[in-house]
Amino acid sequence: MAQEEGRSLSEARARVGVLHGITDLGHKLHFYKHWAPDYDQDVAALQYRAPHLAVDCLTQALPGPPHAALILDVACGTGLVAAELQARGFLQLHGVDGSPEMLEQARARGFYQRLSLCILGQEPLPSSEGTFDAVLIVGALSDGQVPCSAIPELLRVTKPGGLVCLTTRTNPSNLRYQEALEATLDGLERAGAWQRLVAWPVDRWELAASELEVGPGTSDSDGFISGIVYLYRKQDVAQVEGVRPSPQPPR
Ligand SMILES: C[S@@+](CC[C@H](N)C(=O)[O-])C[C@H]1O[C@@H](n2cnc3c(N)ncnc32)[C@H](O)[C@@H]1O
Repeated sequence: MAQEEGRSLSEARARVGVLHGITDLGHKLHFYKHWAPDYDQDVAALQYRAPHLAVDCLTQALPGPPHAALILDVACGTGLVAAELQARGFLQLHGVDGSPEMLEQARARGFYQRLSLCILGQEPLPSSEGTFDAVLIVGALSDGQVPCSAIPELLRVTKPGGLVCLTTRTNPSNLRYQEALEATLDGLERAGAWQRLVAWPVDRWELAASELEVGPGTSDSDGFISGIVYLYRKQDVAQVEGVRPSPQPPR
């Protein structure tokens, strides 16, 4: 049994190590095509906690009863985020992903009311402006996956005053991407598009796929790599109105 567990952990490490090394989106989606049936088992072996942490962070800030909130799960994969949301009473869930095979696994869970194929960075989200009370993107912000240029699209489909929750890894192999992401998030905040509510660094994000992923100067507790959860509130209409010049009375 211990040997079986050991083997599945080493297999999961090997697969995730390969995934992290792919920096081209087409190749990455091809990898997900074949990985989809084993994804849940592998990330469980690696103690991947991002869906749980993101949903914890989001739901603490989301006002109103869970059943009333319409939520979009971007890059939903096999639906691990939906499983966390469903367990907390959130029932109105939509998902998008760029991999038909990952979407197939998500559909089988039966938690999403609507699932769509959409490649972020290449096409817009299939929703009108201001549709969702909250939008999440978990485990998909890294090189070769969802580019930082797609972040404004998440904001577009969020209702004014709604929440956007994002996660990324903060270990050395993802540092360049994380810096670009921070610059994008800060730029949008300076432009008054949203306000940061939370930036939550987490040491034990998931087990490293290899020693190379845990570099010097990072928090490597028991072979884990680190990550971060961000939570933003989109600018409210009232605040936008507040910064508009008031109409001049007719002369
Ligand atoms: C590591 S999985 C995360 C899935 C899920 N959110 C989770 O935390 O378990 C990353 C997912 O992002 C999707 N993805 C990567 N790049 C994408 C893109 N540019 N547009 C849409 N989906 C993308 C992949 O197909 C995959 O399902």
